[in-house]
Amino acid sequence: MDKKTFYITTPIYYPSGKAHIGHSYCTVASDAIARYKRMQGYDVMFLTGTDEHGQKIEINAEKEGVTPKEYVDKIVAGFQDLWKLLNISNDRFIRTTDDYHVKAVQKIFKALYDKGEIYKGKYEGWYCTPCEAFWTETQLKDGKCPDCGREVKMANEEAYFFRISKYADRLLKLYEDQPDFIQPDSRKNEMINFIKQGLNDLCVSRTSFTWGIPVDFDPKHVVYVWLDALTNYITALGYGSDDDSAYQKYWPADVHFVGKEIVRFHTIIWPAMLMALDLPLPKQVYGHGWLLFGDGTKMSKSKGNVVDPVVLCSRYGVDAIRYFLLREIPFGADGVFTNEALINRINSDLANDLGNLLSRSTAMAEKYFGGKIPAERESAPVDDELIQMALQLRQKCDDAIAGYQFSNALAEIWKLIARTNKYIDETMPWALGKDETKRARLAAVLYNLCESLRIVSVLITPFMPETAPKIQAQIGAKPEELTYESAAKWGVLSNDAVITKGETLYPRIDVEKEIEELNKLIPNPAEQKKEEKAAPKIEGLAQIGIDDFGKVELRVGKVKACEPVKRAKKLLKLTVEDGAGERTIVSGIAKWYKPEDLTGHSIIFVANLKPATLCGVESQGMVLSADSGEDVRVIFVDGVPSGSKVC
Ligand code: MSP
Repeated sequence: MDKKTFYITTPIYYPSGKAHIGHSYCTVASDAIARYKRMQGYDVMFLTGTDEHGQKIEINAEKEGVTPKEYVDKIVAGFQDLWKLLNISNDRFIRTTDDYHVKAVQKIFKALYDKGEIYKGKYEGWYCTPCEAFWTETQLKDGKCPDCGREVKMANEEAYFFRISKYADRLLKLYEDQPDFIQPDSRKNEMINFIKQGLNDLCVSRTSFTWGIPVDFDPKHVVYVWLDALTNYITALGYGSDDDSAYQKYWPADVHFVGKEIVRFHTIIWPAMLMALDLPLPKQVYGHGWLLFGDGTKMSKSKGNVVDPVVLCSRYGVDAIRYFLLREIPFGADGVFTNEALINRINSDLANDLGNLLSRSTAMAEKYFGGKIPAERESAPVDDELIQMALQLRQKCDDAIAGYQFSNALAEIWKLIARTNKYIDETMPWALGKDETKRARLAAVLYNLCESLRIVSVLITPFMPETAPKIQAQIGAKPEELTYESAAKWGVLSNDAVITKGETLYPRIDVEKEIEELNKLIPNPAEQKKEEKAAPKIEGLAQIGIDDFGKVELRVGKVKACEPVKRAKKLLKLTVEDGAGERTIVSGIAKWYKPEDLTGHSIIFVANLKPATLCGVESQGMVLSADSGEDVRVIFVDGVPSGSKVC
């Protein structure tokens, strides 16, 4: 029987500047899914590429005194090198300057024109060059591009138009009939509102620049870059060429992963184009969030504030970066990138939890049994919980991956790692090792540790493809013991496995020293702002209006529980009853308060602060306290009901 197919795509990236960690985010996420699906037995097609036409590229090339093609060639090579470095397993890489794509786009444009779906008219309106997007006067926000806030230019030219307006009802029906078409759900309403405001026919050609695919029957026009770009998802499969077998096999795509700002292009323009061509629609468009800096600004090439993934990979290894991107940010939401968060994740999850488990297990197998665990093993009731948890793990990962929640899949895997570390403490193999009569029990304990590591290693493979084989080599597992099927079985590792303690997977990093060095290498605007703030003496305070103050929602909450944050000396994690439920607030007050000083007291907190992740814990607010410079006192309002407003 033919395998079930699975087709996943990333957006095709503009090669208008070097690839950064924001681009890596979506590509690594898509790669993890592609690898997971392959592991599950799907016949996967994973596509990525570059979107090389448009005015922005033409302008950039001119500035550098090179042709647009020379300009993009260099940058595209950088993207391809980065994907190689990050172990991206794409099956195809499309460049919109590829000949086959150019020809197919011309065919598609002509087909739409012949069907009357595209017609010639005159365009008068606003154009945002960085976004390559058209806007009407009413859509502008304070006269600027509503997407990126930058200047727009008046465009006034003869142009071709796509009759997108006539698809408004079909698009709304599509969202209704296929509730999963736009994910996450929160993005769907935005699209519905956009359509309900009225769709104007879309300008799909330009005459004011030449770096684009010429309309072959009217060559002073070039095809609008988004129409050119969106078709990549089918032209890469051979649609419109002599050999469209891959198109026949893989289309429609199972999912297009895209950043949230381009969901509109993918859920309005793209399906309307396909409807006009009478082609099947993709099954889903998943709009993920952005990687932000600690101060909430988006990392983007045009702002010049990008983090270079090559620097990070060379310091910590590719898998550490992949792990961080996939674990730290729930897919769909925005996430904050800070050097501290990255290093803390590496130290706690990779060096401490996973790395220690492997080194302790393999070291004990070597010490007590010379690396070969005897076949006579004596089980005990304490083993059952570990075994049950391990057996259920694959299903939990499958469920999380089905909804593209890698962060949850990894969290589940790390629960097993934590449980296995706890099993070492419970079974105390070092004590068993002292007693000759307990050798069979010791053998069972060490075998169980290796079995748990085997299952973990199989399930982390799609996320951390370099780390998994290292674990597997150390526990002496054979390829047939490392299949997807074997990840839901216990007792698979054979009796003749040779266990060897190998290199340390993730050496612990000295946080303070490393952050200092890293901040020099990777300037982080949030860090820079902190320094700027600390430098000058503040003479007077800027005045704010009552409106500004009104934006801050202060509420009373009762501290239900409080505990230190692991490996963050300054932080306490508070569980606060806020009137509607409970929330977690992380506060840097550990120097002045012990957890028991806070538990049971009512405090004031900022209730509408954007959540931020501090040392791996998401904080959903900020505790108010008075700071004299030397001492910090939390403001207690005991007796005031939780949820009360403070104004
Ligand atoms: N060329 C278009 C896409 C055409 S797809 C038919 C484009 N290119 S882009 O290079 O500007 O962006 C490509 C993707 O990178 C987008 O999905 C965007 O959201 C993503 N990211 C760019 N910076 C990002 C972050 N800081 N964080 C997460 N993703 C970000 O749009």
